[in-house]
Amino acid sequence: MQNLNVGLIGGGFMGKAHSLAYAAMPMFFWPAPALPVRKVIAEANEDLASEAARRFGFEKSTSDWRSIIDDPDIHVVDIATPNHLHAEIAIAAAEAGKHIICEKPLARTGEESKAMYDAVKDKNLVHMVAFNYRRTPAVALAKKYIEEGAIGRILSFRGTYLQDWSADPNSPLSWRFQKSIAGSGALGDIATHVIDMARYLVGEFSAVNAVLSTWIPERPLQSGGADALGTVRGGEGPRGQVDVDDEVMTMIRFANGAVGSVEATRNAYGRNNYITFEIHGTEGSIVFNYERRDELQVCFASDPGDRRGFRTVYTGPAHPYGDGLWPIPALGIGYGETKIIELTTSSRPLQKAAVSARVLPTDTRWPSLTTQSSSPLRRNRGSRFSRSTVDQTGGAAVPPLRPGTGTAEDAQIARDNCQPRRSASLANASVYRKTRAGSGASGSTRQAAVSEQKRRRMPRIHGLR
Ligand SMILES: NC(=O)c1ccc[n+]([C@@H]2O[C@H](COP(=O)([O-])OP(=O)(O)OC[C@H]3O[C@@H](n4cnc5c(N)ncnc54)[C@H](O)[C@@H]3O)[C@@H](O)[C@H]2O)c1
Repeated sequence: MQNLNVGLIGGGFMGKAHSLAYAAMPMFFWPAPALPVRKVIAEANEDLASEAARRFGFEKSTSDWRSIIDDPDIHVVDIATPNHLHAEIAIAAAEAGKHIICEKPLARTGEESKAMYDAVKDKNLVHMVAFNYRRTPAVALAKKYIEEGAIGRILSFRGTYLQDWSADPNSPLSWRFQKSIAGSGALGDIATHVIDMARYLVGEFSAVNAVLSTWIPERPLQSGGADALGTVRGGEGPRGQVDVDDEVMTMIRFANGAVGSVEATRNAYGRNNYITFEIHGTEGSIVFNYERRDELQVCFASDPGDRRGFRTVYTGPAHPYGDGLWPIPALGIGYGETKIIELTTSSRPLQKAAVSARVLPTDTRWPSLTTQSSSPLRRNRGSRFSRSTVDQTGGAAVPPLRPGTGTAEDAQIARDNCQPRRSASLANASVYRKTRAGSGASGSTRQAAVSEQKRRRMPRIHGLR
């Protein structure tokens, strides 16, 4: 198993989440795609950097992120800084031949994002945006149901991301309220996650319109210290101008003809991390609420009329990522788990890149910074990927995909999900299941649960039928 040397830039909220995920990844997903080594963390000054290194388990610290770029030992540059630094760091990392994980939003503007994409696109680098919420098993399960046609043709998607942490006019003017640093407000900060889910589950957008509002135009200047979602309180003193949106509402037309909406606000008293979507299709509906993230609500038109209604599927071992997570449905998926899954799925191509001297065949590149969404539209274009590759996760030879049966990403995600989607992917998924079953570390309860679900090949559904 190869080491994957990580240089993390930014030791705040996301620095904590990414560090936890690097440490925990092999504890959940074993054999791990790679063994992440927390090599070096950069922070804004020496004190913050050395504290972050001790706290998050990094070997070294630095107050100069450029030293990470220049460090030949580093395979992956992980960008977890405020948004204004994303483009500069990512472009420097790409020029140095480093693989890149970048927090969302990708950048402050479309121009910055395009420059980042241009910097990586011809370099055979692995690069991804950290959209972790799509990795919630219930969201991946919704994707599986949609791909299997369980709800027919998609008619509409309604998504929300509602929070209340900035509803108080006295919450301070953190970087998230400053356009020069953040680029945008609720739109880039939180709506991006739901936009990503809409693209992941339904497809690319063909038309969008939106209204934006700023409800609180001035906020107290921060009284110093490192910001964490505005928890460093402002004083009674001077206020500064907010020049980003507090709320955004959009109307969307998808390229496949579906319609939709995405709404986001950080001023909704009573809402905490209220990420929801409701998808209606010609054969059923799917509903998700992150605040009840072990559950997926489904309703199928094929149910007898006197039994038709929403039922709850509790995600567990039978579902996407189930082999790596907890052995009992509804035991509890948290924010940390979504980050662990995110870094596991990204580490597979990253690990392959590391062992092949940082050169990847085009076909096996991770989806690009700007097109990380693996929408059905992109999937259906087919693939030139048709040769055997070595599965670095377990040393097993992965059977080749037939041309046109799916992308390399499909095969990878099939393994990640341990759920067959297409015949060739099923072969890959079986190899992975066998490898994992052979590890036998989790005892008889989990093995019994997995075999029962394999035998039935059915999601565990609580309710009628
Ligand atoms: N995927 C998610 O769910 C999610 C959640 C929150 C934040 N984010 C994104 O993660 C990024 C970071 O957000 P956060 O909440 O961790 O912010 P934060 O303010 O908590 O942390 C940012 C850290 O970067 C450090 N920093 C600033 N300048 C630096 C520099 N020059 N070199 C090194 N470090 C520097 C700051 O000192 C701070 O500790 C943002 O892009 C944000 O949008 C993503």
